[in-house]
Amino acid sequence: MTEALRQVTHINNVALSEDGAAVVIIDQTRLPNDTVYLTLHKAEDMYDAIFQLKVRGAPAIGICAAYSIYCLARQIKAADYTGFLAEFQRQKEYLNSSRPTAVNLSWALNRMEKVVTANSHKSIEEIVGLLREEAQKIHDEDVAMCLAISEHGLTLIKDGDGILTHCNAGPLATSRYGTALGPLLLGKERGMEFRVFADETRPLLQGARLTSYELHKAGIDVTLICDNMASIVMKNGWIQACFVGCDRVAANGDAANKIGTSGVAILAKHYNIPFYVLGPTSTFDLSCKTGEDIEIELRDPAEIREKFYKEPMALKDVKCYNPAFDVTDHSLITAIVTEKGICYPPYDKSIAALFR
Ligand code: MRU
Repeated sequence: MTEALRQVTHINNVALSEDGAAVVIIDQTRLPNDTVYLTLHKAEDMYDAIFQLKVRGAPAIGICAAYSIYCLARQIKAADYTGFLAEFQRQKEYLNSSRPTAVNLSWALNRMEKVVTANSHKSIEEIVGLLREEAQKIHDEDVAMCLAISEHGLTLIKDGDGILTHCNAGPLATSRYGTALGPLLLGKERGMEFRVFADETRPLLQGARLTSYELHKAGIDVTLICDNMASIVMKNGWIQACFVGCDRVAANGDAANKIGTSGVAILAKHYNIPFYVLGPTSTFDLSCKTGEDIEIELRDPAEIREKFYKEPMALKDVKCYNPAFDVTDHSLITAIVTEKGICYPPYDKSIAALFR
């Protein structure tokens, strides 16, 4: 592996501080211009980091939440287990309310809560120790899942292919290789070359700020395009596959991902290009029967009107609609790549088999 590639895939985007008392993250809102690490001690800072997308990407949010609730559990001063559990649950609900769509947030927090409830007979000190182990396990598992997804995804493309991606599902959003970018980074490691087209991903520009940064730094041929240019690059014959991540996958294969993803899938269908969703099983939510059940985060209109501009680009009081995600209908998805293997339609059957 080249040093450049290693620096991308082994970035410490989320970690526990050396003394174990805080969560250390790379502030993704400062990239690509500044690499700034933030140390989060307080619940409000942890909530804010997730809400403000300083840490973002479904798996990274889950990992950050797991370390965060561990750090907060260390701070609880309770006379007995009942008091400890009550305060733990209060903090858990607070962190869980920071963003609604990526299921990894509640998935990780629920896993952490189970450690507390399953060990009620142990001392609080022991429970806190087990929480640290569980958070580390969630992180380690994500590393393994991303690598397995990358291996499976790599079987779907060949040397020289053009790949279109939307938003950012690379190492910053996950652990190590990432999901949608994983096969490209792994392929690069093995001497393969891809031509990647990265949608800039309005309004928060994860594609421009993060995906093109990661791929360029890794030495992968990346071309940044505005979201409305996806059609022309497909028409030009430059795209052999679309790779995107996911924030919540329903039991029927409908997949929520960054706003604009479903438009890419519709275009891909028109141009007969395979459209792949890549994500770990921690991003599946079988309690959602279809995408209709997935809550879509609505964000501040200011992100459309003025963020990233020197001056507002629209009138201050103009009405804006700013959903952070959309749901791609399962009928538009060629396959869903997980760490356990590749799911093909009919998804209700192939997804159920994954969890059997
Ligand atoms: O709002 P964001 O930046 O957190 O949205 C992230 C995405 O939509 C990613 O594609 C998804 O979380 C998968 S990350 C592996």
